[in-house]
Amino acid sequence: MQTQAAIKLRRSVRAFEPQAQISKEDIKTLIDSARLAPTARNIQPWEFIVITNKDMLETIGGIADNGRFIADASACIAVFCKDTKYYLEDGCAATENLLLAATDLGLDSCWVAGDKKPYCLRIKELLGVPDDFKLVSMVALGKSKSKEEAKPEKRPLREVIHWEKF
Ligand SMILES: Cc1cc2nc3c(=O)[nH]c(=O)nc-3n(C[C@H](O)[C@H](O)[C@H](O)COP(=O)(O)O)c2cc1C
Repeated sequence: MQTQAAIKLRRSVRAFEPQAQISKEDIKTLIDSARLAPTARNIQPWEFIVITNKDMLETIGGIADNGRFIADASACIAVFCKDTKYYLEDGCAATENLLLAATDLGLDSCWVAGDKKPYCLRIKELLGVPDDFKLVSMVALGKSKSKEEAKPEKRPLREVIHWEKF
């Protein structure tokens, strides 16, 4: 798939087939794509925790109140970054790469929020993450239960583009 096609096809999926599985090869491809994202001063402050254990996925879904669907996902990749100046931008770039690589592999996904949520400390503790790391995102991955996804409206190009000045 070409990059443009993956960008246009990707949509957030929040209802997963609980029985679907993702191969280790695919997971490695996703992390490989994430680690190639740009970072400020090439610091690469990230660590990626792959969760595939069902009990653990259910526990995370129970903690993250706006990511309950993680319980039914085939995997969740938690993106943590060391608390550097540009950790958020770096971690978000990696997360977007993950989402697009997932689309490219025919996987469905949803970005679940990180360190602005009250649950972030509990997730950190649960996953044994050192204090000096921030939770940037948790990416739920799997196969959608439905054939047709909700497609929230995107602002049109003509409205967001500004040539030369605002
Ligand atoms: C920083 C960020 C945090 C998000 N957090 C959540 C979340 O906690 N739970 C959720 O269901 N979706 C979350 N999303 C997904 C957005 O709701 C979704 O991207 C948006 O509605 C647009 O839909 P689309 O992804 O299908 O284009 C998040 C997206 C971003 C970029």
